[in-house]
Order: sequence, then structure tokens, then C-alpha cells
Amino acid sequence: MASTFGALCALTALFPAIVTSIPFVPRFVSENQILAAYDYVVIGGGTSGLAVANRLSEDSSKTVLVIESGPMDDGSEDFKIPYLGRGYKNFGTKYDWNVTSVPTASLGNRTIIMPQARVLGGTSSINGMQFAKGAPSDYDAWEELGNEGWNFKSLTKYFEKSENFTAPSKKLVEEFGITYDESAHGSTGFIHSSFPNFLWPQLKNWIGAMKSLGHSVSQDPANGGALQLFWSPSSSNPDTQTRSFSREYYDGARDRPNLHVLLETTVTKLLTSGDERIRVDAVEFSSSVGAPKKHVKVKREAVLAAGSIFSPQILQVSGIGPTSLLKSLGIEVVVDLPGVGANLQGHVYIATFYQMTNVSLSAANLTTNTTFYNEMYELYKAKRDGPFTNGGASNMIAMLPLSDITSDNLHSLLETPSETSYRDTSISKGYQAQLKILLRHLTTPKMAATEMLWFSEGGAILSVMHPLSRGTVTTTSSSLLAGIPAINTGHLSHPLDTKIFIETLRYTRKIIATHEMRELGLVEVLPGAEVNTDEQLEKAIRDGSGYMYHMTGTCSMMKRELGGVVDKDLRVYGVKNLRVVDASVQPLIPAAHVQSTIYAVAEKAADLIKAGSLWRD
Ligand SMILES: Cc1cc2nc3c(=O)[nH]c(=O)nc-3n(C[C@H](O)[C@H](O)[C@H](O)COP(=O)(O)OP(=O)(O)OC[C@H]3O[C@@H](n4cnc5c(N)ncnc54)[C@H](O)[C@@H]3O)c2cc1C
Ligand SMILES: *[C@@H]1O[C@H](CO)[C@@H](O)[C@H](O)[C@H]1NC(C)=O
Ligand SMILES: *[C@@H]1O[C@H](CO)[C@@H](O)[C@H](O)[C@H]1NC(C)=O
Ligand SMILES: *[C@@H]1O[C@H](CO)[C@@H](O)[C@H](O)[C@H]1NC(C)=O
Ligand SMILES: *[C@@H]1O[C@H](CO)[C@@H](O)[C@H](O)[C@H]1NC(C)=O
Ligand SMILES: *[C@@H]1O[C@H](CO)[C@@H](O)[C@H](O)[C@H]1NC(C)=O
Ligand SMILES: *[C@@H]1O[C@H](CO)[C@@H](O)[C@H](O)[C@H]1NC(C)=O
Repeated sequence: MASTFGALCALTALFPAIVTSIPFVPRFVSENQILAAYDYVVIGGGTSGLAVANRLSEDSSKTVLVIESGPMDDGSEDFKIPYLGRGYKNFGTKYDWNVTSVPTASLGNRTIIMPQARVLGGTSSINGMQFAKGAPSDYDAWEELGNEGWNFKSLTKYFEKSENFTAPSKKLVEEFGITYDESAHGSTGFIHSSFPNFLWPQLKNWIGAMKSLGHSVSQDPANGGALQLFWSPSSSNPDTQTRSFSREYYDGARDRPNLHVLLETTVTKLLTSGDERIRVDAVEFSSSVGAPKKHVKVKREAVLAAGSIFSPQILQVSGIGPTSLLKSLGIEVVVDLPGVGANLQGHVYIATFYQMTNVSLSAANLTTNTTFYNEMYELYKAKRDGPFTNGGASNMIAMLPLSDITSDNLHSLLETPSETSYRDTSISKGYQAQLKILLRHLTTPKMAATEMLWFSEGGAILSVMHPLSRGTVTTTSSSLLAGIPAINTGHLSHPLDTKIFIETLRYTRKIIATHEMRELGLVEVLPGAEVNTDEQLEKAIRDGSGYMYHMTGTCSMMKRELGGVVDKDLRVYGVKNLRVVDASVQPLIPAAHVQSTIYAVAEKAADLIKAGSLWRD
């Protein structure tokens, strides 16, 4: 069977038309069934990987293999129901890589748990379902960094290509005043974006409070309005009120005979050859730690989509990374690329919390009253309504510029360099270039510095959107299977990040003091009314901040002399046929929850790969 299948597929490489006439192809292939070679081998069947694999396999003359370390999800409610998924039931299960950072000095040596999904669909299978793009300045900054063609305007068609937007119900529009601009959204993409059927009424107090302080509601984040207040959709199917995620890209392509998926198989190395221009000849993989290593040949390109933690690790163990690191681990240097694993950025948050003493019903009741919880669960199952449709912290987002939360002149802090663990000149130059661009934008109302979300249990989630702190991801062994890489988050190592947090916490107290919020009878529990001075607030932040898991930047798209890892076509420097397409290529994190941007970048990546800019020589 295996050899017949192999022979058939070898034939199809010569006569592509035959591909479509193969009568039966299993949805998933086993190690024994895979072809000896594929046009494209996609490493990681996650958020970005499945989007790219779907688009590449649209061309039936090309064979595509996806290698995913995790299994298929079990279809359980923990994946599907927004409210349950928000409880992050899949953390620490077999669907999680169980990533923990090294102790972070700037967080009082705390380690940070960083869930990373290990399942077909990747982290989009377990995330918080917030789905909005950033402001124009967030993407224009990528182009200013030297990445020609990467700006808000040119990315628009890719945001739209990935999305299928459904407008909110009349009932919610009337009750909450939801605004949107349907013309700025896609309607034919694989990822549903829509609104839950239910929002908690306290959100109205929060919106009223923000308005009373002079903030306006932008019409829609999709049309450039991701500043001030705006309504953000969720990645949710409006008909079933269930999670919409990257596996739908696979579902939409699984009948294609030229697309194979190898599950529960971990890529361990890229096998390369050549001197001047390195070529990826094959991808090595293993089904478990002790199992023999096998490999599959790459005819055209290898596509790295293992996410911001594992893509740099795969490059490093394959000899593509900082020479000093590679040598110290006895890894043969294939390409000296100092930026691999550097420039790690993410959104850190601090949550405030209040007791709501003048509220008869809120999300808090779901956690304190089992009868009520069960009633709402039944309502969801029967009518797809009620709070179980609502997964994210909030569908109302505030993205505020620095000047809205503080009148202090922060120029001197903006110019302070961060400590980076790599003392490489290109990385330092790249960081300076980023600072310059951020300085230019963060001093205007066109770039958000801080995000504020009301969450329905009674609190605010506050987050620094353009951190100046940088972290690193470094493999600790020459073997990928030896364990997760060392992650130094670097959080709050830059003084401006801490300053923005302090000012945002103070600003939150202004919001809480408005008439609209006082009506809820709020009593501050966290950080607590007695926490007041800069020093006290800073301590609360360092001890209490959490992570939004928006890791980006570790294989940054930047010029090579700035410490970049991929060029503007997402090709790894020094390698002929290798691209990175996941979150790690975003050189500056946008002021947004990153998944919609990841989908847009993946859609663009697929077009770049199809254009075959590599294969003219
Ligand atoms: C708890 C949580 C909540 C979040 N909430 C939101 C939110 O509300 N909104 C938002 O926009 N973003 C959110 N995010 C972030 C967002 O979901 C992720 O940034 C995004 O899904 C990452 O996409 P990716 O393609 O880069 O990587 P992933 O989706 O993680 O895909 C990587 C894939 O590669 C596989 N892989 C890794 N190494 C190997 C290997 N060696 N061999 C084979 N396969 C491998 C992994 O198993 C995984 O399937 C959240 C993230 C987390 C963790
Ligand atoms: C993460 O931990 C869980 C629970 O201990 C385990 O079942 C799972 O296999 C672990 N994941 C990995 C990738 O080791
Ligand atoms: C963090 O760890 C380092 C090294 O072990 C130590 O020098 C430092 O004092 C620790 N900091 C805190 C706040 O515990
Ligand atoms: C978009 O979503 C709507 C609502 O679920 C659905 O009816 C429609 O078929 C979807 N469109 C596409 C092209 O999938
Ligand atoms: C919800 O919680 C409030 C405040 O504790 C309480 O007064 C109310 O009775 C609760 N309602 C339900 C349905 O649990
Ligand atoms: C719990 O919820 C049920 C159903 O809504 C309600 O009847 C009951 O009064 C609530 N209990 C409390 C203590 O609020
Ligand atoms: C309590 O809330 C109600 C509305 O739900 C409001 O009319 C009343 O003024 C509030 N009480 C206080 C003390 O703010």
C-alpha cells in the first residue's frame, strides 16, 4: 500500500493533473504513507501554518505536507464554547507545550507560564478570541523599518481575505450602541468574526465613564479606527456561537489530495547543504523522543510556522542563529544570524479588581452561584444565547495614546535603551531603529501606548501595547527534543514600560471615580486603595503582572544589518528556500491582540510563496 501510494504520488509530480484523479487519500497520512518529497513542507500546523498550507494547496499541481507536533483536538466544549475556552481549560494538558520562562529579574525573578497550543490549529484553538487589527501606525511602522510593501493599506486585502464578518444583532446594537463598518471587513474568509449574543450591562457604565472623560468611540477598528474606544469582534461563528479558529483552513482543504498532514510528529532539524547559498534539502522529524529520526525531502520550500518560541529554536538547532550561541552548544554554524531568538516582544498586563456592591447580576455570579451557572449553560445549549457566548475579556477596547494618560514629558525615557542579552551590534542597531520609529509615533495621538479593557467579573485589564523591553529565546541544547528553549521575557526591563503602567493604573482610578462607575458601588480590591506612591504601584506591577501571550519578533522581518532574520519576502537570510510565516516575523508588535494580524501576514506569505520569488535562478 505504502509503495503503491508513493509511486502514484511520484508520478503525479511529473503529471500534476493525475493528482486530482487519485480516488482516495487519507485525511492524515502516517509516517509510512508520506511521499519522499513535497513541493512545500510546512513546519507547524498552527494558526499561521494551516492558513498557508490551505492557500498553497489551492494549486493542485503542488504537493504540500504539514508536520504538526500535536494531535487533532477532541472536539470537546473546552475548545468550542467561548466562556469555557476563556477558562483556558486546555492549559497544562496534552494540548499544551507547557512552556515556562526562566526567572525574570525585572519581575522579581518570577517565572512566567506561557501556554502554547500543541494541536492542529495551534494557539488559535485555545486563545481568548479577541479579533481586531491594530491602528494604521502599527503597520506603517513595519515599512518605516525598511520592509517595503508592509503597511496598513497594503495589508488590508489580506486582513479581508482571512475574515468572514457578521454584523452584531439589532438587539445588541440598540442596547449597547455598537458601531461597525461592514465595508472594511472581509466576508469570504475562513475565520468568522462576529459578536457574542450577550454582553454584561456593566459595560455601559464603563463606556459612559470613558466618554465622560472625553474619549470618543471610533466607528470600527477595521477601517483604521483602532484608537480611543472601539467595538472589537471575536473569532466566533455567529450561527453556532462557537470558536472559529485556524483548523477551519484545514477543514476547507482536507479533501485536496495534494495536501497531507502528519500529526503527532515533531520537526527536529532542517537538513541543509551548500556554501554560498544554503538550501534546505529535507526536514528531519521524529514521532517521539526515543524514536528513530526520519526525513522528508523539500522540492521547493520549507515553511516555518512553529510560532515565536519554537521557530527560532528550530533555526538554532539547525545551525541558523547567533554563532556564539551555536558554538557554545556544539552546533555547526550554517548561517550566522544574530537576530534568531532576539527582539522578543509581548503584551504584559496588570489587572485591577473591584467588589461591585451595587450590582444585582454580573459575570461574578457565574463563579459564585452553581444554579445560575447551570441555567446559563443550559440556555447556551438550547438557544446559543447568554453569557456562555461571551469568551473574551470584553468586546469594547480602549487603546489610548500616551498623551491621554499622562502630561509628563517622557522623551528622555523614550530614548533610554533597553538591556538586551545579545550584545551584537546589528541587534543593537535594529533596536535603536525601532526606538526612533516608536518615539516618532508614541508622541502623537495616532499610536496607542496602553490598552484598557473592562472585564465583567469586575475589573480592568491594563496592558502596555508598544513595550520597549525586549526578551530572548535560546535553545539550551543542540537537540530540539531535549526540551523547551530558555525564554527570557525581559518584561518591564525598560523604565518607560513601568512608567506607562503606573500612569495607566492612576488613570484607571480616574475612570473608577466617575459618576457612571461609582453607580456600581465599586470597592477596590486590587491593587488596593492603599497602594498609591510610584514605588508602591511599581511593586504591585512587578509582583502582579501577567502575560497576554502575544509573543512576536523572534524571527523579525528587518534588514540583516539591523538584526533581521527574514527579508520583506519572509525569506530567511542566507538560505535559498526557507521562509518564516508565523507571529515571530512581526518586527514591532502592533497595539492589538495579534491573531488577526497573524492571519493577514500568513495570507500575504502564501501569495509571496506562490509568486515564487525564490525560483527564478
Ligand atoms: C492563552 C492565550 C490567549 C490568547 N488570546 C488571544 C486573543 O484573545 N486574541 C488574539 O488575537 N490573540 C490571542 N493570543 C495569541 C494568539 O493566539 C497567538 O499569538 C497565535 O495563535 C500564534 O500563532 P502562530 O501561528 O504564530 O503559532 P501557533 O498557533 O502556536 O502554531 C505553532 C504550531 O507549531 C507546532 N509546533 C511547534 N514546534 C513544532 C515542531 N518542532 N514540530 C512540529 N510542530 C511544531 C505547535 O504545536 C503549533 O501547533 C492568545 C494566546 C494564548 C496562549
Ligand atoms: C504538558 O503537561 C501535561 C500534563 O502533565 C502532559 O500531559 C503533556 O504531555 C505535557 N506536554 C508536553 C508537550 O510535554
Ligand atoms: C534574582 O536572582 C538574582 C540571581 O540569583 C539575585 O541576584 C537577585 O537578588 C534576585 N532578585 C530578587 C528580587 O529576588
Ligand atoms: C460567512 O459566514 C456566514 C455566517 O455564518 C455564512 O452564512 C456564510 O456562508 C459564510 N461565508 C463563507 C464564504 O463562508
Ligand atoms: C448575584 O450576585 C449579587 C451580588 O453578590 C447578589 O446580590 C445576587 O443575588 C446574585 N444573583 C444570582 C442570580 O446569583
Ligand atoms: C442562584 O441562582 C438562582 C438561579 O438564577 C437564583 O434563583 C438564586 O437566588 C441564586 N442564589 C443566590 C444566593 O443568589
Ligand atoms: C445603584 O444602582 C442603581 C441602578 O442600578 C442606581 O439607580 C443607584 O443610584 C445606585 N446606587 C448608588 C448608591 O449609586
